[in-house]
Amino acid sequence: MKNKNNDLFTLDKFIEESLYNKKYGYYMKKNPFGESGDFITAPNISILFSEMIAIWIISFWEKLDCPKKFNLIELGAGNGEMMRVLVNTFNKFPQFKDSCKINILEKSELLKVTQKTNIKDTKIKWLNNLNELNNFPCIFIANEFFDALPIKQFLKKEKKWHERYVNFANNNLEYLDIPFDMQKFEKKIKFKISYKQKFIEYSPLATKYLKTIIKKIKLNNGGILIIDYAYLEKEMKNTLQAVSEHKYCNVLKSFRTSDITYNLSFNLINMIIKKLGPCSSLSTTQKKFLTKLGILNRAEILSKNMPFSDKADIYYRVKRLIDENQMGHLFKVMLITNHRNKFKLGF
Ligand SMILES: C[S@@+](CC[C@H](N)C(=O)[O-])C[C@H]1O[C@@H](n2cnc3c(N)ncnc32)[C@H](O)[C@@H]1O
Repeated sequence: MKNKNNDLFTLDKFIEESLYNKKYGYYMKKNPFGESGDFITAPNISILFSEMIAIWIISFWEKLDCPKKFNLIELGAGNGEMMRVLVNTFNKFPQFKDSCKINILEKSELLKVTQKTNIKDTKIKWLNNLNELNNFPCIFIANEFFDALPIKQFLKKEKKWHERYVNFANNNLEYLDIPFDMQKFEKKIKFKISYKQKFIEYSPLATKYLKTIIKKIKLNNGGILIIDYAYLEKEMKNTLQAVSEHKYCNVLKSFRTSDITYNLSFNLINMIIKKLGPCSSLSTTQKKFLTKLGILNRAEILSKNMPFSDKADIYYRVKRLIDENQMGHLFKVMLITNHRNKFKLGF
């Protein structure tokens, strides 16, 4: 929300304006994915990533007793690369494909056009909001979706809580920390985010999505798979960052020109879902998840009769996904399911 002073934006409003302003927002005017863009996501590194997700989805559907109708929903589909590979893989499993209603929730009109061109499956439905989903079991997939949502930051200064704002008053944007009534806020959101914290990153929009998703999972069965930059420690920290042309840059100098993201606190998500439950959650690293799903075996099969250079390329890409010094450790995976569901593949 805009402060009484028109030059002050709360941090979430700043990020919203920067990334998603209808005309000038970063994601609304640019396709940032790939080597020639600003950053590269797992589906754009290797098709093996999306193939593993496809096999995971089919196995989860089997665990749900192969419902004849169910919803698969990708949240924030980027350039559509993951869904393109999912659809290609699903085509090899006709019983599954016939049962699966594929949906995408995407905010950027520009990226929707890119997705439609890339995926070429006429049966996919692009949702305006999650309430359009009918009452079938739902499997939600969110790869780097939550880290792209606006967050608020709160910090303790001299034992008092402050909310971080961005001040547009001067030509140089700057942060401004304004005293904040945390007790009142916690009463409103109905849980205590400040417990044992000195610094908080909280996304009202992520909480709103989780509420809707968990309601659907509880009512109709299913789950959500979250793959994202995340950490497991209880103490929250300042993880806000901006990325342009594959390099970190200054958040305040990145207004509408760079991607702005943060790392998810899985502890906070667990607190949120505990409030909204009952539901179960499991978490692990991307390395363990993909390795348990058999990405190395798949790489071996795929590259068997390939020339050395192609084989090396496949393994180089898989290494980027699972190496502990690259995405393997930085990226975490969380599965949230209806509490009666005991599906554990990959965890
Ligand atoms: C970092 S990108 C990830 C894209 C893709 N999942 C991938 O891994 O390549 C974030 C995506 O979420 C979309 N997005 C952000 N906020 C959204 C919202 N509130 N509703 C729907 N999509 C949103 C962006 O437009 C973008 O497509």
